[in-house]
Amino acid sequence: MSSKISSKNINLFYGQKQALFDINLDFEEHSVTALIGPSGCGKSSFIRCINRMNDTILGCKISGEIMLDGQNIYRSDLDLTLLRASVGMVFQKPNPFPKSIYENVAYGPRIHGLFRNKKELDEIVEKSLTKAGLWNEVKDRVQDQANALSGGQQQRLCIARTIAIEPEIILMDEPCSALDPIATAKIEELIDELTDNFTIIIVTHSMQQAARVSSMTAFFNMGKIVEYGTTDKIFTNPSNQQTQDYITGRFG
Ligand SMILES: Nc1ncnc2c1ncn2[C@@H]1O[C@H](COP(=O)(O)OP(=O)(O)OP(=O)(O)O)[C@@H](O)[C@H]1O
Ligand SMILES: [Mg+2]
Repeated sequence: MSSKISSKNINLFYGQKQALFDINLDFEEHSVTALIGPSGCGKSSFIRCINRMNDTILGCKISGEIMLDGQNIYRSDLDLTLLRASVGMVFQKPNPFPKSIYENVAYGPRIHGLFRNKKELDEIVEKSLTKAGLWNEVKDRVQDQANALSGGQQQRLCIARTIAIEPEIILMDEPCSALDPIATAKIEELIDELTDNFTIIIVTHSMQQAARVSSMTAFFNMGKIVEYGTTDKIFTNPSNQQTQDYITGRFG
C-alpha cells in the first residue's frame, strides 16, 4: 500500500545551521501520527515542510522530497494555493481572524470558490462548525466576533476554518497547549472523529495526548528520527533507550 505522505531524505538548514537530518517518514491515509521530542528537536520545522510553510523563512533551505499521493510537493511547478488547500494547519495559539465566527469559516471557501450561492456557503459553514464540535455552542451567534469565544472554542473555530476547505491532511502543531483540560479533551475527541475523513499529523509535548490520539508515533531528537513505530510499541516497548528515557521523563 502506498502512503498518503512520504518524506524522503529531508534535510533542512536555517542559514548554516542544520535543523533536520535525513528525515524519512511515511504517513498512511486517515491515520493520526504524533510527533514527539524535546524542545528544539525539529518537530515544527518538519511539520512546516509538509505544507511548504518554511518557504517564507529567509535563509531556510530544504533538500529531499515530500511525496503527497506520489507527487513531490517541492517540484518547481507546484501550485502553492492548491497545496495549502489540501494540507491545512492548526497552530499552537488559536488565531482566528478579527472577523465574525461565520466569516472565519467562510473565508477559505470564498478564496477557493467552493460554493455557488449563499445557501451553499451557509451549509459549508454549518457543516464545518458541526464537524468541529462547535455548532451547538455558536449557532445563535455566528455573526458575533470570533475573539468573543473562549480559547477552546477559538481553537475549534480554527479547526472548523481548516476543514471548511476540505483538506486531505491536517497538520496540528501543539493545538492544545494553550487550552485547559476540558477544552483539550474536546479537541482530542474531535481528532478521533476527524480521522474518518482526514490524515492528521500532530505535534505534542504531552505523552498522554500522543498515546490517546495517535496510532503512529515518531520520536525526534536533535533533528533526527530516533524511533518511529506504532504508538503502542513506542509507549510500551520502545526499541531505543533514548525513546525509553524520553517517554518515562528521564531525558536530558
Ligand atoms: N525561523 C528560524 N530561524 C532559525 N532557526 C530556527 C527557526 N525556526 C527554528 N529554528 C531552529 O531550528 C531548531 C528546531 O526548531 P523547531 O522549532 O523545529 O523545534 P521544535 O521541536 O518544534 O521545538 P518546540 O517543542 O520548542 O516547539 C531549533 O534549534 C531552532 O532554534
Ligand atoms: Mg515547535
